[in-house]
Amino acid sequence: MNNIPVMEPDRQYYFMDRCKERLADLMEKAGRGLTYNIQTFGCQMNAHDSEKLKGILDLIGYQETESEEADLVIFNTCTVRENANQKLYGHLGHMKSVKAKNPDMLICLCGCMMQEPHVIETLKAKYKLVDIIFGTHNIYKLAELLYQRLDTGARVIEVLSHSEITVEKLPQKRKYQFKAGVNIMYGCNNFCTYCIVPYVRGREKSRAKEDILEECRMLIDAGVKEIMLLGQNVNSYGNTNPEISTTFPELLAEVAELPGISRVRFMTSHPKDLSDELIDVIASHETVCRHIHLPVQSGSTKLLTAMNRRYTKESYLALVDRIREKLPGISLTTDIIVGFPGETEEDFLDTLDIVERVRYDQAFTFIYSKRTGTPAADYPDQISADVIKDRFDRLLTSVNRIAGEELARFEGSVRDVLVEEPNRQDASLVTGRTSENVTVHFPGSTDLIGQIVPVRLKECKGFYFIGEQDL
Ligand code: SAH
Ligand code: SF4
Ligand code: F3S
Repeated sequence: MNNIPVMEPDRQYYFMDRCKERLADLMEKAGRGLTYNIQTFGCQMNAHDSEKLKGILDLIGYQETESEEADLVIFNTCTVRENANQKLYGHLGHMKSVKAKNPDMLICLCGCMMQEPHVIETLKAKYKLVDIIFGTHNIYKLAELLYQRLDTGARVIEVLSHSEITVEKLPQKRKYQFKAGVNIMYGCNNFCTYCIVPYVRGREKSRAKEDILEECRMLIDAGVKEIMLLGQNVNSYGNTNPEISTTFPELLAEVAELPGISRVRFMTSHPKDLSDELIDVIASHETVCRHIHLPVQSGSTKLLTAMNRRYTKESYLALVDRIREKLPGISLTTDIIVGFPGETEEDFLDTLDIVERVRYDQAFTFIYSKRTGTPAADYPDQISADVIKDRFDRLLTSVNRIAGEELARFEGSVRDVLVEEPNRQDASLVTGRTSENVTVHFPGSTDLIGQIVPVRLKECKGFYFIGEQDL
């Protein structure tokens, strides 16, 4: 046992080898291959983490399956809103009958919800069917924890409250061969008063620029056309690390200029520190996609202050003007919360007003969810469900109408479309996205998947277009 490497990622590759040996024995006993199924909830961070988990399991020798009747099932959880917790417990109740059919099945839970101590207590007390639990800070340790479970037969729980290290250079399995997410930072330091992310993902840590560029180069060499730079607030890249002197706009420019890259996107931009340099870098680089996701959360300066967002209605609108001046036609999308504590009808009208003025191409609307442990959970004036429902419906009507009207501006134009997949309903169509992140369905063969082709956007159908390849 004393030849186990101490350094990462060598240690994890060692455990992948050990798991591989174990799995070979198990497969021989079972007389068949063993399968895994990963169910991912939440944001791009979690989606990307799941690609890392899949890379590890593929290397160990498991085969991926769509069915949750698999030999290893992983739930990669999100906890940004409260109802996710109840849903997970419900789902685990259902998994009892699935596991009864295959008692050797392993159930594993990871992700943001596991960082909440009360969740771990509930799982320990009531959900004995769960075999492995880990959190967001040790996601890279899947092989080691799986080996421990296979070796001891006992349940393994390892959740860390924070971590000094981030382990890179582990295998990854991408959903799409032609597009990939690249983490540029982990965690969040903004502490918006409603949000649980800083508590479950920890303090902001930026990756070294060279590591990011090296990963991007490797992806481009492997045929990736579109790279999405990922962080909870990409605009603060490098701010908390004195060893990083590069700003986000500088990093974006370097990625955008990498030989062979076709497209680069980024997510998410916090409005408080989206700089004019960033706007200039987008404007001067064709490869940077014409889309900024710019969560506004509310149009009321009073609520924005209570949310600790650190911008006002006026400064947000001024930022939108600066963006549109240099990037006419760019697509702006947003997130909005309805029913934050203390939200009056007047505050809500400010939100409707900002939506009318900015005219987003898409807006994700959320009902405020009280997250225990966040400051807003203790604010007075929590809003009643029926008031929220009424406001939510009015907001949805407004954002949907505007999105439809705005998307129509592309009608008749020819745009480059990265073809992503066959259309799910109609096999004669393929589906892709423009630089503005607008979805287009058009007649074409699956050979086009992974290619960027010019498409005329013929008919706007509300949230998407029907197009025709411009030959
Ligand atoms: N880092 C990103 C947001 C990540 S969470 C940013 O700051 O823009 C994604 C979205 O979930 C947020 O933009 C917010 O609109 C929503 N959200 C977060 N906490 C929430 C809560 N407690 N209730 C409802 N919506 C919430
Ligand atoms: Fe949450 Fe705010 Fe951080 Fe976004 S910036 S993850 S909303 S705390
Ligand atoms: Fe959810 Fe965690 Fe993302 S809480 S939104 S999966 S960072």
